[in-house]
Amino acid sequence: MRLGVCYYPEHWPESQWAYDAARMKALGLSLVRIGEFAWSRIEPSPGHYEWDWLDRAIDTLAGAGLEVCLGTPTATPPKWLIDAEPGILCCDAHGRPRHFGSRRHYSFSSQVYQAETRRICAALAGRYARHEAVTLWQTDNEYGCHDTVESNDPDARRAFQSWLAAKYGRIGHLNTAWGTVFWSQEYRSFDEIDPPLATVTEAHPAHRMDWRRFSSDQLIAYNRLQTETLRGAGVAAITHNVMGHFTQFDHFALGEQLDLTVWDSYPLGFLEQAWWDDATKKTYARTGHPDFAGFHHDLYRRVGAGRFGVMEQQPGPVNWGTYNPAPAAGMVALWTLEAFAHGAELVSYFRWRQVPFAQEQMHAGLNRPDNSAAEASGEIGLVQACLADLDTRPCTDTAQVAVLFDYAAQWMHQIQPHGRSFNPDELSLAFYTALRELGLNVDIVRRGDTFDAYDMVVVPSLPDLTAAELARLEDSGAQILFGPRTGSRTADFAIPGTCAPGPLQRVLPIRVDSVESLRPGVGSPAGAETVIHWREFISAAIACHRPDLFGPDLVWRQGRFTYLGAWLAPAALKVLICDVAGQAGLAPIDLPDGVRLRRRGDTIFAFNYGPDANALDQVATQLPHPALPGPADPDLARRVRIFRP
Ligand code: GAL
Repeated sequence: MRLGVCYYPEHWPESQWAYDAARMKALGLSLVRIGEFAWSRIEPSPGHYEWDWLDRAIDTLAGAGLEVCLGTPTATPPKWLIDAEPGILCCDAHGRPRHFGSRRHYSFSSQVYQAETRRICAALAGRYARHEAVTLWQTDNEYGCHDTVESNDPDARRAFQSWLAAKYGRIGHLNTAWGTVFWSQEYRSFDEIDPPLATVTEAHPAHRMDWRRFSSDQLIAYNRLQTETLRGAGVAAITHNVMGHFTQFDHFALGEQLDLTVWDSYPLGFLEQAWWDDATKKTYARTGHPDFAGFHHDLYRRVGAGRFGVMEQQPGPVNWGTYNPAPAAGMVALWTLEAFAHGAELVSYFRWRQVPFAQEQMHAGLNRPDNSAAEASGEIGLVQACLADLDTRPCTDTAQVAVLFDYAAQWMHQIQPHGRSFNPDELSLAFYTALRELGLNVDIVRRGDTFDAYDMVVVPSLPDLTAAELARLEDSGAQILFGPRTGSRTADFAIPGTCAPGPLQRVLPIRVDSVESLRPGVGSPAGAETVIHWREFISAAIACHRPDLFGPDLVWRQGRFTYLGAWLAPAALKVLICDVAGQAGLAPIDLPDGVRLRRRGDTIFAFNYGPDANALDQVATQLPHPALPGPADPDLARRVRIFRP
């Protein structure tokens, strides 16, 4: 478990670097990420590299005993490159180029940019791969940020046609698989097919689904180009900083190319961006939602095959939310310790010092522009005091419950939500919240994983469930809970021949006869209190499960399989999770509002995101071990407690 910070030496006078480095070291930081936007300083004009300043910056940090994570600068191709090769620019849905003047203005499919990327990465790695202070490399920065996964540029169009040709072989196969006879959308050859963008009304869902798969594949191939170049030069280890609240590409595929996956955690910014109602946003305005960081820690732990961390931790107000409040006292320490509790090996803050110019001048850092220490700095000492008492070796525990998460499943629901309020990200988090409110430890798992280590597996929704996936779930011996719309589509985006839940009918003799989506405030026959957003009408050869708890026809169980044919309101979902957990032999604890537990080895961390200052005292009475004394800071004491035998 180590702490780090993001630093931009090119933003500050060189006379300040040694002082900065000494203060970083004194604060207990050990890893400094630099370089990820510095292309215009590394190569101010074509082929003219200026390494001296970067050599000195790295040596200054190394001289203070700090390690460096060096970013490839490809998120910001410089002006001279764009002017020489405007075809690099990514394009909007109408094929219009997006302009220079911010960042991420390139297309993953641009062949010119791929060559330029190889060149700049090889130059950078050629210079620093063997530098002993450079122990980690970051490819690019936040792939997909600012809506850049998809681009309707000529290279992308051609690549999409080749991708389709490789997938379907013959155009007739594509026409059949997609069902292009509908509305006379049939094609005679692959080169007739455009991206499914800017159509008059909605484009064909199977076409859109393949475009999403293709766009994700292009991004992954682009990252591979970087990792291959860096590994070819012999770099130590490679990471990439992914985002929260972002499902537009297959992060599991990205993680396979990395040594460690890191993510950027901005709990207050994310709360503002997400779907919660005003009351929830008010309650958690200064803490973030209690499950948002936890969910992403668990997700990216699996993406990183066990090795993950936070590269950018919010230290104060950000500049990009709808509103940008300051965190409550103690929260920066809480977020940091929570990441470690979930198994992170690094938490690094964004950024060392607030920058007085340009787009992010309203974004807090650990220091103010005049170099005085900002609020969050003080909390780093508290974190260190807590870590001093802990076993900080990597921890490979398996949790009690697995939640299956799949990117392509999210895309299917995003393409055809059938109602404004059917947000698959919200659905996944709703199940996660119900589990965590009951004190259960969760691993997020991916399609194709084995489930043998778990007592309970939750599949919030997997529209294109396959017979093979079902067999793997069956073999696990776990209690399995499937959420609505599971088994409702084939891989080609069609309704299965036997209707939903498709392959699940082998173990659960039910059929979804019809479905409805619900506007806020409109209930279904089962009552507005129980069902929100989505409801299925099911005929079955078995009796419905616990009609007394969930209404006459919402939950169906046979053997170890339970199917939920609705989106349950939070309280009802918690009752269902409790019921399945009980079947699985787990012992849920009903935690006070806003409190979450996380076990790491034999240590239990308790985190209080809620308004009740005494909530952790209540929890203490239910836990098997005593709390460690911890630092005598009242703000931290109401937020975090660590229990150990
Ligand atoms: C991240 C990004 C950083 C910085 C930060 C501000 O999305 O990686 O470069 O912009 O947000 O919160």
